[in-house]
Amino acid sequence: MLNDIPTTKVARAARFAKTGFNVGTNYIKHYAKKAVGAESTTENLHAANAAELYGTLSEMKGSVLKVAQMLAMEKNMLPTAYAEQFAQAQYSTPPLSGPLVVKAFRDAFGQSPYQLFDAFEPEARQAASIGQVHWAEKDGKTLAVKVQYPGVADSIKSDIRLVKPIALRVMGLNEAQVRPYLEEVETRLLEETDYKLELRRGQEIAAKCQQLPHLEFPVYYPALSTARILTMDWLPGQHLKEFLATNPSQEVRNQIGQALWDFYQFQFNTLHQLHADPHPGNFLMRPDNGGTLGVLDFGCVKDVPADVYQLFTALLAPETFTDEIRLANLLTEAGVLRPGDAPAMRALYLRTLRVSLELVGRPFRQSSFDFGDPAYMTALYALGDDLMADPELRKQREPRGSAHFIYLNRTYVGLFALLTELGAAVETGIPGL
Ligand SMILES: Nc1ncnc2c1ncn2[C@@H]1O[C@H](COP(=O)(O)OP(=O)(O)O)[C@@H](O)[C@H]1O
Ligand SMILES: [Mg+2]
Repeated sequence: MLNDIPTTKVARAARFAKTGFNVGTNYIKHYAKKAVGAESTTENLHAANAAELYGTLSEMKGSVLKVAQMLAMEKNMLPTAYAEQFAQAQYSTPPLSGPLVVKAFRDAFGQSPYQLFDAFEPEARQAASIGQVHWAEKDGKTLAVKVQYPGVADSIKSDIRLVKPIALRVMGLNEAQVRPYLEEVETRLLEETDYKLELRRGQEIAAKCQQLPHLEFPVYYPALSTARILTMDWLPGQHLKEFLATNPSQEVRNQIGQALWDFYQFQFNTLHQLHADPHPGNFLMRPDNGGTLGVLDFGCVKDVPADVYQLFTALLAPETFTDEIRLANLLTEAGVLRPGDAPAMRALYLRTLRVSLELVGRPFRQSSFDFGDPAYMTALYALGDDLMADPELRKQREPRGSAHFIYLNRTYVGLFALLTELGAAVETGIPGL
């Protein structure tokens, strides 16, 4: 199966060249159809290109899928069609065979997993984005062992180099203008290949969150871990969808939702450091003790600099979106407004951001918030689509604002989406309080 994956740089480059070519062909088809008056909307074109790009990316596995996923997360940077295509990426990685898993252990520890553990399952229990998770036992403990696909870390940089020009071209963006944003994303992607870093951050954040109720973190085992293999306790529990299928009570859902909310508020407000990947795969839920939440995967952690924290908090404060001058000052500080902006442009950004901040800040402005009402998340997605479809905003090809906000936005939108799916009512309150 591994033979199907192009591994050499030349083969990978060839795949991308092919995608670039097909994307070009789709554009030609689009304009040809337009010329003869046939129906070919821009959305169709995006869908065709996204399918093409996705098809090629999924043949390449590993780091490229990660890049694709990342692009999909940043909805503002991509038309909806891309986001939908890329969102499928995480479900389609073929597993690493038993002998290759053994080889990964021999390379890392000079021992096979059967020597290292008392018991080890050669078949992966779960797929990970750039690896897979095995079940093991040692000294009476049940363990989860995440094994990274060999070569992923080394090739991620060159993959980014390959993906970037195509993504930029397809999206019609200018490299220099998007550089700080892509650098931010690339840094996080590269960090994610370092399981030693994940282990350290997982240990640190878990230790600092110890006093938060109804949360559970795996214990990590440094002696059984390397940059490419991560060993921790196996946490019991179910992913959100399976958990919901067991019909947990409203009380249990609220308690888990509250644990999730408190976890994020504490990290943001007190630690200034966030588990920045609130994907459903990273949480395990159980009905024990009225509802318990297991937290996994500290591969993507965002450190929030003090000035960014202050700015983000000030932007979400209730007085901001009703006070035009305050809003304008904060947006200038955030790099969204610029001194030389034409009045119309300035008005456009002020209007857009006022609406966005009012909506995104809503849960913080109330003492409690019922995410069980799907209207909120629907409104949030609709806002995203409206902004993307806005003809004036579409003309602004150059993204604006602090690159730090990419992962903050992603984290909060992800958190709100999780709470909505969980149908939890939580005590929220103003951030920073
Ligand atoms: N400690 C653990 N206990 C139980 N299951 C785990 C554990 N660690 C990982 N898993 C399973 O493996 C999946 C992928 O692990 P994760 O660390 O999220 O990988 P990735 O960093 O690639 O997203 C999780 O969604 C979960 O189902
Ligand atoms: Mg994960």
